[in-house]
Amino acid sequence: MKTILVTGGTDGIGKGIAMHFLKKGDRVIVVGSSSAKGDLFLNETRQLGVEERAIFLQANLSLVKENKRIIEDLKSRFNSLDRVVFCATSHKQNKEYSETQEGFEFSFGLSYLSRFVLGFGLKEVLEKSDNPVVLNVCAPGMNGTVNLDDIQNKSNYNGAKAKYHGSRLNDLLGVAFAQNDTVGKIKYILFNPWAVQTSGTFDAIENPVTKSMMKLIYKIIGKPVEEAILPIIELLENPPSSALSAYKQRKEVSLSMKTFNRENAHKLYTKTVQLLKGRKIFPIGFDPLKISN
Ligand SMILES: NC(=O)c1ccc[n+]([C@@H]2O[C@H](COP(=O)([O-])OP(=O)(O)OC[C@H]3O[C@@H](n4cnc5c(N)ncnc54)[C@H](OP(=O)(O)O)[C@@H]3O)[C@@H](O)[C@H]2O)c1
Repeated sequence: MKTILVTGGTDGIGKGIAMHFLKKGDRVIVVGSSSAKGDLFLNETRQLGVEERAIFLQANLSLVKENKRIIEDLKSRFNSLDRVVFCATSHKQNKEYSETQEGFEFSFGLSYLSRFVLGFGLKEVLEKSDNPVVLNVCAPGMNGTVNLDDIQNKSNYNGAKAKYHGSRLNDLLGVAFAQNDTVGKIKYILFNPWAVQTSGTFDAIENPVTKSMMKLIYKIIGKPVEEAILPIIELLENPPSSALSAYKQRKEVSLSMKTFNRENAHKLYTKTVQLLKGRKIFPIGFDPLKISN
């Protein structure tokens, strides 16, 4: 029996993955911000008779302190973790720049910083597994650049641009994770599911006409969750042997793409560590590899 953490496992792609592994006999911990969605998830596990292996943890992952709490909770409950899957997201595009109570841009906090903190913070407990995997569901294989002088999009904020920028930050996060991993046991996979018909995608659109159009487009170009998760399941069951890999659905994405530039990955890593130190969420001398200390 494997122990699998799925952030954003109460809805959409994450829930599909969580349910698959629960049905298969694994232990699955899901994290989401809404306790109502958590209750729905737990009810479904009861109906399937798998509730003994299902755990829901309520947390607002846009806050670093909540990610820290989850790391501490998991480390105290489990000796090892076999798989960590990052799916927590909000498809909502803010009209204006807005910050979390910790002073980070909201989308930056949830889509990038949470994955940075959880990935490095759970490294030790993952390394206790025989064949640990981190699978980051994001959007590798797309072009674009990271503005290293403004990683939180403070100047000329645009909600759509911030989302794309967040995807590029995650490309570099995968590279930085592999670069900083001297143990070399964890396989880090960046995965792009392409268009998936999740309710989160549609609920985020306020204009009813745009919403109907998006539903129509996704009906044509997108996939239902059950189908979209199949290549993810395959990768989680038979992970690639390389420390870092990237996929767009079943097609491997070349790590020679500019979006995976090693120097930029190092710069982003350094800037992220500085940001976390600056907010005093971590003590002076903070080391991302010892996040829960
Ligand atoms: N759907 C697509 O077409 C598509 C395309 C490319 C990439 N992706 C990527 O695939 C991943 C999953 O997307 P999805 O469409 O499945 O998303 P979704 O259906 O909207 O589900 C998002 C999940 O994240 C949780 N979440 C949202 N805000 C949170 C917060 N502050 N703290 C903790 N959990 C939070 C949600 O639960 P609560 O609401 O309870 O918090 C939910 O479980 C994302 O990383 C996304 O970027 C999706």
